[in-house]
Amino acid sequence: MLKTRICELLGIEYPVISAGMGVVALARLAAAVSEAGGLGTIGLAAMDAAAARAEIRAARELTARPFAVNLLIPFLQPGLIDAVIEERPAAATFFWGEPDDFRDPIRRLKAAGVKVIWQCGSAAEARTAVAAGADAIIAQGLEAGGHVRGIVTTLALVPEVRAAIGDVPMAAAGGIADGRGLAAAIALGADGAVMGTRFVATEESAAHPLYKQRLLAAHASETLHTTLYDIGWPDAAHRVIRTPMVAEWERAGRPATGARPGEGAPAGTIRRRDGIDAPLVRYSVLPPAEYMDGEIEGLAFYAGESVSLVREILPAGEIVRRTVAEAEEVIMRRLAPLVR
Ligand SMILES: Cc1cc2nc3c(=O)[nH]c(=O)nc-3n(C[C@H](O)[C@H](O)[C@H](O)COP(=O)(O)O)c2cc1C
Repeated sequence: MLKTRICELLGIEYPVISAGMGVVALARLAAAVSEAGGLGTIGLAAMDAAAARAEIRAARELTARPFAVNLLIPFLQPGLIDAVIEERPAAATFFWGEPDDFRDPIRRLKAAGVKVIWQCGSAAEARTAVAAGADAIIAQGLEAGGHVRGIVTTLALVPEVRAAIGDVPMAAAGGIADGRGLAAAIALGADGAVMGTRFVATEESAAHPLYKQRLLAAHASETLHTTLYDIGWPDAAHRVIRTPMVAEWERAGRPATGARPGEGAPAGTIRRRDGIDAPLVRYSVLPPAEYMDGEIEGLAFYAGESVSLVREILPAGEIVRRTVAEAEEVIMRRLAPLVR
């Protein structure tokens, strides 16, 4: 059975983590991943404290197993961290901020029994996060979907982060969508894998059906590392699918913010706000969710290069089981016999 130190740290069976993805990774997805023995993560980005509490409680209704929440620092609303401390999920993952500014929240989370995991884009950031008290690190490579913190690919970043943080537990993120990727991440020095794009195309994710379908058809070469979807979060690099709207912007000569085709036009309506205050317009930071209607083509279809490996919508638990079985198979039957 595939067990690593991240399993021990988090009290989970398998070293498979679903990424905390704002708007699309809600209680249902997180609970399904955790029920299958992985660590599910609720994306709290853009939620206010009350909505976050409700989502954590909803996950708890669906699973008694450990799950995590994700705190996207530029979107932290007042009282959100206190709500997490009171609700006590097994872990909280932080992204996109200075670890040193969060020493006190990290200390308070840990005192409440919440493990703190910091997603990093560089070895230097990982070192700072560990020094600030993080229990574990996620090393996110350039291939990743959604917002991308660094510029080094997973293959190069993971060994570098491992060297920087000694034996602190670490998971790799970016470009991983199956057991081969999990085995490779472990070979590089990680203790597990975080998958985002793979878990968007699940029965339980709250992504819009058109978004899920588009993932199944997209190839890695059709993803774009850009700052295009900047309304609600400027100057933050992310990886998205080249949708017809992106192609239209490219044909227009890639004009700057303020001069893009259809800039500011409505991009549908939202049925469930949960404190979300980013505007639903073309080039908005929000991805299309099942609780949005209308002109969703104007929203960000986030996807990593792992998208080429995503060819069917599956139950999230099935992805956890297949990933673990395949990683075990790769290690036992492909790698071990090579050593004679
Ligand atoms: C739709 C989507 C939304 C995301 N939202 C967040 C977020 O709110 N917070 C966060 O820490 N990371 C977010 N990420 C990045 C993931 O944490 C992770 O690094 C990434 O998905 C890994 O690459 P992969 O998509 O190739 O698996 C998001 C990724 C995707 C695909």
